[in-house]
Amino acid sequence: MKPERTKDPADLLVFNASKVLTLAGPDRPRSGEEMQDLGAIPGGAVAMRGGRILETGASAQLRDHYADAKRLDAAGGLVMPGFVDCHTHLVYAGSRENELAQRLAGASYLDILAAGGGIHSTVHATRAASYEELTQLALKRMNQMLQHGTTTVEIKSGYGLDLETEKKILEVAAAAGRRHPLDVVPTFLGAHAVPRGTNRARYVNWLIKEALPALRGLSEFCDVFCEKEAFTAKETGRILRAAKRHGYGLKVHAGQFSDLGAAGVAAGLGAVSAEHLENVSEAQLKQMRNSGTVAVLLPGVPFFLLSERYADARRMIRLGVPVALGTDFNPGSCPSFSMQMGVALACLKMMMTVEEAITASTINAAWAIRRADWLGSLEPGKQGDLIVLDVQDISSLPCHFGTNLVRSVVKAGQIVLPPRH
Ligand code: NIG
Ligand code: FE
Repeated sequence: MKPERTKDPADLLVFNASKVLTLAGPDRPRSGEEMQDLGAIPGGAVAMRGGRILETGASAQLRDHYADAKRLDAAGGLVMPGFVDCHTHLVYAGSRENELAQRLAGASYLDILAAGGGIHSTVHATRAASYEELTQLALKRMNQMLQHGTTTVEIKSGYGLDLETEKKILEVAAAAGRRHPLDVVPTFLGAHAVPRGTNRARYVNWLIKEALPALRGLSEFCDVFCEKEAFTAKETGRILRAAKRHGYGLKVHAGQFSDLGAAGVAAGLGAVSAEHLENVSEAQLKQMRNSGTVAVLLPGVPFFLLSERYADARRMIRLGVPVALGTDFNPGSCPSFSMQMGVALACLKMMMTVEEAITASTINAAWAIRRADWLGSLEPGKQGDLIVLDVQDISSLPCHFGTNLVRSVVKAGQIVLPPRH
């Protein structure tokens, strides 16, 4: 039979995969049993053109159909969508690696914050850093992320806590996104902590009256850290309601150390996501399920903070709450940006199946940043963001924790790893 000639020519064909995990499925965040279905094509291939996916299918067939396309031989490796890291604080200066020794000596994360360290110490360093210094730091981190298979990153501000520095962080995030293959989604997190020496009521009013309207053009989402030493549930509700009026999508850091009720508050306002959730009541999880609020779980955080208190992913999945994974990459509570490590911890510490962890770190993570129409799965029309892993089966992923298994990265239909010389 002659190869079909009516097809659009592809400009890149990735073929010879042990499996292509398409993550194709229903047009909603995946929950419950749906998280098990990776839409795998054994011996699969992916054809792309103009940065988008044209078709997925069997290698033998697509090789015939797209005989003229440039080829990337997956050589029996596993092909899946690039990781979507839907929760990071990537733009910061300074280092807090000394805090680990303090925690090993018995201090808690909140003790260090209350004593003026923690977030406050990063605020100090970030205020002092120039736009260019922050941009260089961001680009370097994004290069490393890309090497570990992340193709899209959400970046929160929150290390400025004044208009000038919050703006600088959001502008650096956007500029880094323009200069780097990674897609960047910026989130305003002015409500990360009350800056030292500031009256809290005055700071909350300033956030609502000045910062939210001023920064609307620079960030799509507004996030609040609801926690002891940060913001109360009542303040969280006020800030998120104001953000909603200004047209921001809503996110919340909820239940990291204590359940103050923020997940329920956010779900009641139709939040896109509630994140952390190590401590959250079943009633709030049901509210999240009913409002379609994605639970973004960050297992690298309890791991690095020497805690055994992980989010109860099994309960969330049983209740039908869509679960996503992120790293929370930041200098204090998770200085690792490896989504592969996140997948391993999800399995080893939260008892997620490997299938669930892959769904959570790709398509559901894309839902958590409102990019699921464009990213997170390998379906015709979507952006051609994929990775080739040096394993044949998904079961290997959590087993090689700490090892970078990424062999190649394709971003928007271009091979970006290994780099061309
Ligand atoms: O998500 N929880 C608050 N914010 C970050 C940590 C930020 C920091 O410690 O610098 C988090 O864990
Ligand atoms: Fe965070």
